Amino acid sequence: MDITQTKYLIEHRPRRNRRTPALRSMVRETDLKPADFIYPLFVIEGEKKTEPINSMPGVSRFSLDLLVEEVKQAYDLGVPAVALFAAIDDSLKDEVATESHNPDGLMQRAIRTLKEKVPEVAVITDVAMDPFSSEGHDGYVEDGKILNDPTLEILAKMSVSQAEAGADMVAPSDMMDGRVGVIRQALDEAGFEETGILAYSAKYASSFYGPFREALDSAPRHGDKKTYQMDFANSREAVREVLLDIEEGADMVMVKPGMPYLDVIAKVREISTVPVAAYQVSGEYAMIEAVTANGWMDGEALMTETLTSIKRAGADMILTYFAKRMAERLQ
Ligand code: PBG
Repeated sequence: MDITQTKYLIEHRPRRNRRTPALRSMVRETDLKPADFIYPLFVIEGEKKTEPINSMPGVSRFSLDLLVEEVKQAYDLGVPAVALFAAIDDSLKDEVATESHNPDGLMQRAIRTLKEKVPEVAVITDVAMDPFSSEGHDGYVEDGKILNDPTLEILAKMSVSQAEAGADMVAPSDMMDGRVGVIRQALDEAGFEETGILAYSAKYASSFYGPFREALDSAPRHGDKKTYQMDFANSREAVREVLLDIEEGADMVMVKPGMPYLDVIAKVREISTVPVAAYQVSGEYAMIEAVTANGWMDGEALMTETLTSIKRAGADMILTYFAKRMAERLQ
């Protein structure tokens, strides 16, 4: 074919802007920085102890002393915040998640220790019953049903107890109706009007949480979470959840999981008046590690591409198990 004879004159050449690394860096629309990340961490009892998590290669549960070291390292690399999850012994779990508001519980001690040893770092704490519940559900269970309003009382106690220990923000991940408003009121009444709320607003019932449930041994003992977490087929409903949480007092909202829900992140970003977080969850992490271990794809490249995609979609910040590694790479 004679290219000069084509009826399409090639007037437009977008490739010009991609010709050299310098040009590409000038036109790049999305840049990651260490301050974009929130580092989720699992804490266990004991001293000088790390426990690997089978389905999350490279991620461990840390005893408190080692948790402090890990957080220091991440903070020194520019990661401003951590999200804490406590893995407690089964013997401490009961139907009403009593241990979740024990002033000397593992979570509360972890918060106090971090605020003492690394006071600059923002400590964000998970508010939900599942890691403390003998049922493995985020809400109070009666006759196999998850009861909304009785759960709110427990979540409020848990939040106040975490705020007392020094949490900068509490992060309800339970998806009960009305919890943000109830938690806000409870915090204010207890004198914690400065403690923020990062609401897991659009949290989907997702298979991507599997490895996390192994990490905390928190899988539901029966049934699933579909009566409270959202149907992954829906996105308009995410807008409804986000608007409600903002109205009830959320300081930041979240979409979770991350990469399979980029459309939801983009939509939420359009309508939200508060910062939007996205959670690259355990299963997303595990998939990247699995293909890397098989030699099928380049893990470092996938880490950068997936995190950039989540930010490009509209996330102001990203919870990711790669937080420290990505921050290292960005130095
Ligand atoms: C518990 C909670 C879950 C995650 C964060 N908080 C699991 C669940 O809802 O079953 C998932 C995080 C991850 O998969 O990385 N309320």
